Amino acid sequence: MIQAIRGMKDITPDETPYWHVIEEAIRRILAAYGYCEMRTPLLEQTDLFARSIGEVTDIVEKEMYTFSDRNGDSLTLRPEGTAGCVRACIENGMLHNQTQRLWYTGPMFRHERPQKGRYRQFHQVGVETFGFSGPDIDAELILLSASLWQALGLYDLTLEINSLGTSENRAVYRDKLVDYFSAHLQQLDADSQRRLHTNPLRILDSKNPDMQALIGDAPKLSDYLDEESKAHFAGLIRILEQAQISYTVNPCLVRGLDYYSKTVFEWKTDKLGAQSAVCAGGRFDTLVEHLGGKPTPAAGFAIGMERLFELVKDLVEPKHLPHAYLIVDGSDAVIKGMILAETLRKRLPGLRVVNHCGGGSLKSQFKKADKSGATVALIIGEDELSSETTAVKYLREDKPQEHMSEEELVNQLSNLVSNIR
Ligand code: HAM
Repeated sequence: MIQAIRGMKDITPDETPYWHVIEEAIRRILAAYGYCEMRTPLLEQTDLFARSIGEVTDIVEKEMYTFSDRNGDSLTLRPEGTAGCVRACIENGMLHNQTQRLWYTGPMFRHERPQKGRYRQFHQVGVETFGFSGPDIDAELILLSASLWQALGLYDLTLEINSLGTSENRAVYRDKLVDYFSAHLQQLDADSQRRLHTNPLRILDSKNPDMQALIGDAPKLSDYLDEESKAHFAGLIRILEQAQISYTVNPCLVRGLDYYSKTVFEWKTDKLGAQSAVCAGGRFDTLVEHLGGKPTPAAGFAIGMERLFELVKDLVEPKHLPHAYLIVDGSDAVIKGMILAETLRKRLPGLRVVNHCGGGSLKSQFKKADKSGATVALIIGEDELSSETTAVKYLREDKPQEHMSEEELVNQLSNLVSNIR
């Protein structure tokens, strides 16, 4: 049997109702903050990612799904959404003399080693803002994400923030860091030795317990920030404090993508093992210009939806169960039932009625009705056909079965819709 590709999961109908609850909450909150949806292709030219995410990042070096198409062009399945969003904004003339608050959602692809919370196809909801240079928008992004956690009943995520300053600040710091780690070469693990001359800041991100003391004593980027970056970071902190958002400053938070400057942040959980970041982002003030646009300040974040799903699936209540399950006895009842169900759905928007199709004994139909999770069973048999009524059986309550006219039925079910919806 042909199986799904390693690291790529099906999301089955018993899971999708939870996804819908999460996605609806996210859409509601994004709308409340004035964000508009952007949709971009899954495929982009490989060069877009190499130039934005960075040639010597893990993503570009070893995780991209890259192939030549029939014209021989090198294309890549997007490993993240920021690069495509920036490209689209430049291409559609959305940045000049304008500000933008945008969001997107969809699958992303990274050829990583699959494990809990880490997949090769995963989904993000990403948010990007353009044209805002101050720390107020950084704070807005954090407040927006905090509202979302609250809406989903998630109270135990922790927020880590840091400032990466400008690329000039990082260049000076990078040299200091290379000097420091070179002097302790023996204590570096193989991964860090490899990173020493390609991407030394990423050594700070190492999860290897044996390296934590060495990393703890390393020079701090905060000592190399220029005045403007320091003021920007202080401005963000001031708003977070006033808004009573708890945070920790993590000087080792450097992020795995090269386009960041100034603020970076991550919302973390301790419930998903090594995959602790549920939501991550920051400022990327030079990326628009780097990709050929006019200089435009920008900031955003992305949520890992599979990770969010894992955390909230026991906290949210999906609303997918039918209100009514229609049971029919005999071929005339089948037709009558079909027409009744059509009428009910039209007259009561939001009502979920499942027709029993495929025949079978009344007993087996009742079994299916019960299994469907429906609140009531509607039954049409010979008696109901002749009296032009429908029998209503309450499946979850100890109430006697009733016979109702169409009007009475609409009335009764309208209560259900407003109660259950
Ligand atoms: P990222 O940190 O690479 O940032 O990914 C953001 C989030 O996507 C992660 O925190 C994680 O929850 C989820 N994620 C990443 N890789 C995987 C995976 N293999 N399996 C499951 N979930 C994963 C970005 O992608 C940036 N574009 C975020 C951003 C937007 N920065 C500014 N704007």
